[in-house]
Amino acid sequence: MKLFLDSADCEEVRLAAELGVISGVTTNPTLIAREGKDLRETVRTLATLVDGPISAEVVAEDAEGMIEEGRELAAIHPSVVIKLPIGLDGLRATQVLSRQGIKTNVTLVFSIAQALLAARAGATYVSPFVGRLDDLSANGISLVRGIAEVFTLHGISSEIIAASIRSPQDVADAACAGAHVATVPYRVLLQMAAHPLTDLGLARFRRDWKDAFGK
Ligand code: E4P
Repeated sequence: MKLFLDSADCEEVRLAAELGVISGVTTNPTLIAREGKDLRETVRTLATLVDGPISAEVVAEDAEGMIEEGRELAAIHPSVVIKLPIGLDGLRATQVLSRQGIKTNVTLVFSIAQALLAARAGATYVSPFVGRLDDLSANGISLVRGIAEVFTLHGISSEIIAASIRSPQDVADAACAGAHVATVPYRVLLQMAAHPLTDLGLARFRRDWKDAFGK
């Protein structure tokens, strides 16, 4: 399973890219609004920081608007993937953009049925939201597992991006459930690298070394 960074903060993306562990970036209107910077400018910068897919989400509300916006965003850089919300307009736009060879990421997926529709419309990626389901006492990872089973059973090539990830355990569970990608906030990426036993172990190695060799 690959890791994408779920962030529109260029500094975070630069730091994560330096670790050599991320293969792409996802953004959404909330993340872009949080940074307060122009979407197009942000996408241009992100594409220089990471050699991989950069998801940029449309904000138009009808299919025609989504198609126009999608074409314009895709023209910014070959790495750009157009993120579209599931729904009738999103599906129509996905189908048109996919046929034109533009990569798409269908987002806000909360059911296997929605994932199947997105795949049939030609989505390159489908993004089930794990954390937002868990927030409602549903089971986000079960959804990822179900989509993975259906896609495998029916030879569907769309890739599953486990989104709305809240913890390192979500990442591990998404990998076991068959997601192709987990898109993680920077905070979760840092948590993934840490373990209290690693800290204790390292402190002991250093102490034993100093006790034996004095430096
Ligand atoms: C990514 O594609 C999604 O937009 C993102 O993971 C949503 O995460 P959230 O539920 O933490 O807002």
